[in-house]
Amino acid sequence: MKAMSFKGQSILVTGASSGLGKEIATCLARDHGANLVISARREDRLQELADELAKKFSVTVEVCAADLGLETDVDKLFEFCTQDRTLYGAILNAGITHFGKWDELDFESFRKMQAVNNTCVVKLASALLPYFEERAVGGGLMFVASQAGVTPVPYQTFYSATKAFLVHLGAGLHYEMKPRGVSVTTFVPGGIDTEMTEGARFNDLRSFLMPVGPCAREAVNAFRTRKYMHSPGLMYKVGGVLSKLLPGQLVVSTVAAQYKRSLESNR
Ligand SMILES: NC(=O)c1ccc[n+]([C@@H]2O[C@H](COP(=O)([O-])OP(=O)(O)OC[C@H]3O[C@@H](n4cnc5c(N)ncnc54)[C@H](OP(=O)(O)O)[C@@H]3O)[C@@H](O)[C@H]2O)c1
Repeated sequence: MKAMSFKGQSILVTGASSGLGKEIATCLARDHGANLVISARREDRLQELADELAKKFSVTVEVCAADLGLETDVDKLFEFCTQDRTLYGAILNAGITHFGKWDELDFESFRKMQAVNNTCVVKLASALLPYFEERAVGGGLMFVASQAGVTPVPYQTFYSATKAFLVHLGAGLHYEMKPRGVSVTTFVPGGIDTEMTEGARFNDLRSFLMPVGPCAREAVNAFRTRKYMHSPGLMYKVGGVLSKLLPGQLVVSTVAAQYKRSLESNR
C-alpha cells in the first residue's frame, strides 16, 4: 500500500483537547493540510483549537464533544464524522491512566478506564473499518497504545493491561485489514510530557518523558507510512531492543522499582 496523503482529506482525532491528541491535530493541519474532526469532552478547548488551526492553516476543523466512556457518545461521534464528509482516517488517541497501587483504584474507576481505553476503541474500530473498506478511501486507522502495553508497568497495572489489549488488537487488525485495503497502525510511546504525567507522583520519572511535539510528529509519520507498530524517541527505541534481550522479569522488576520510588517519594 502507498503512503497516505492527508492534503484536503478528513481525519478524526480523539482526545484532541490536550497533550498528544492536540499536537497530532496541529501537525496534521500545519504540516499536511488535513481537514479535521476533533473530539474530547472539553468542548471549549476543542473550539479554541479548531478556530486557531482553521485560521492559521486554512483547513476545516469541526468539533464533536463526546464522553467516550459512554457508548451512546461513541455512536454519536461515528455518525458525526461520517455524515457530511468522507472520512479518510482516524487516530484513536483518547485515554486515561491511574498511577498508584492497584488497590487504590475502585472497580467503577477501572470500568471507566476500560470504557475509554478499550471499549470505545473496539466500538469505533468496528464501525470505521468496514466504512473505510466499503468506500475504498485508501486511508487507515491508528491506535495510540503505550510502551506500558508492551512491557508491563507495575503501579500503572490496570492502565498497562488496557494498553496491552490495544497492542494485541492493533497487531491482529493490521494483518486482517491489510489485504482488505485498510492500514491499521499501533503507536506505542513511552512517557510523554502531557497533562497525563503532570502530577507530583511522576516527579522522579520526568527525565524519561519525551516532549509532546516530536512525539506527535512521529505518530503522524507512522500513521502516514502505515507502520505496523511504532515507538517514538531514541531512548525508547534502544530501551525496546534491550528489553527484548534481557529476561522479562528483570525488565519488569526494574520498572517496578522506578515507579515505586517515584510514587513513594512524592506522596
Ligand atoms: N503521557 C504519557 O506518558 C503517555 C505515554 C504513552 C501513551 N500515552 C497515551 O497517549 C494518549 C494521549 O494521552 P496524553 O498523554 O496526551 O494525555 P492527556 O493530555 O491527559 O490527554 C488525554 C486526552 O483524552 C481525552 N479523554 C480523557 N477521557 C475522555 C473521555 N471520557 N471521553 C473523551 N475523551 C477523553 C482528554 O480530553 P477531555 O478531558 O477533554 O475529555 C484528552 O484530550 C492516551 O491514550 C495515553 O494513554 C500517554
